[in-house]
Amino acid sequence: METLHFNDIYKSYPTKHGEPFLVLDNIDLTIHKGEFCTLVGPSGCGKSTLLKLILGQDFATSGQLTIKSTPVGHPDSTRGVVYQKYSLYPNKTVLQNVLMGPYFKIPFWKKQERQNAKDYAIELLTKVKLEKHLNKYPHELSGGMQQRVAIIQALITQPEILLMDEPFGALDPGTREFMQTLLIELWEKYQLTILFVTHDLEEACFLGTRLLVLSQYYTDDRGADFQRGAKFVVDRPLHKEPTSTHIKETAEFAELVESIRHQGFNPAHLQHVTEFDLSHPQSWSTLNSQENNSSH
Ligand SMILES: Nc1ncnc2c1ncn2[C@@H]1O[C@H](COP(=O)(O)OP(=O)(O)O)[C@@H](O)[C@H]1O
Ligand SMILES: [Mg+2]
Repeated sequence: METLHFNDIYKSYPTKHGEPFLVLDNIDLTIHKGEFCTLVGPSGCGKSTLLKLILGQDFATSGQLTIKSTPVGHPDSTRGVVYQKYSLYPNKTVLQNVLMGPYFKIPFWKKQERQNAKDYAIELLTKVKLEKHLNKYPHELSGGMQQRVAIIQALITQPEILLMDEPFGALDPGTREFMQTLLIELWEKYQLTILFVTHDLEEACFLGTRLLVLSQYYTDDRGADFQRGAKFVVDRPLHKEPTSTHIKETAEFAELVESIRHQGFNPAHLQHVTEFDLSHPQSWSTLNSQENNSSH
């Protein structure tokens, strides 16, 4: 079942000097239910912009973007999101933060439904070991605890897709590893569909079932001076089975990280669009005749 579909998406921002600045350049992507995709790329390549389009906080300059075959509209509970920081309301407790979404949809007189939502919130918060902190405020929690609340806040409305923008970027290494393992557990248990943005290559290669690399470092047949936006230069499957953190110590893992660094992060290494590693079975791309003139 297809959850998310990008078809020929371009996104540019206007500039003061007239010529628009192209960020996303002919993006094609299909994500199916249950996939756990990690997305990595150089700073400023357009990762957050891509998430904003999915959230409906910004609109593509051209192309079609659908969630379960419906064009994306304003932000709603079909998409959940967790940011690096500030996903929580500072003046609400853990439980109140998590219940904001469900209570918004259930009128106050439907007492039983509200009680069910509350029971479910407590069940989820227990799953991430926060059952003793239900009545605390965000400032009373550690960074890792705050991010666990943010994840549950995003999960409780059962979004079609969970978007995460560098959610563990502000955590210390030990907490980060704990959160990675926890996220894999939640993904399995609740059969989530996840798009996880990170700038950490190890994290991108470790988590998930599919690795996407977005980069402006590539070439095509549009000429040396053409101002290209970012494209997926890698879209490949990762391990099928959920993994233990031991995999990070293997030589194979180190090789994968190095090859991704080379393919996506090296401004001097410009692969041609026809040479990208798009080996994931759901990967596809629609090169036009300017981008690839050898096909004509
Ligand atoms: N609202 C905006 N107006 C103009 N330029 C923007 C806007 N948002 C992002 N950009 C530019 O688009 C590019 C991609 O930004 P972003 O998606 O935040 O990158 P990333 O998340 O990969 O670091 C950057 O060059 C950024 O300056
Ligand atoms: Mg960003």
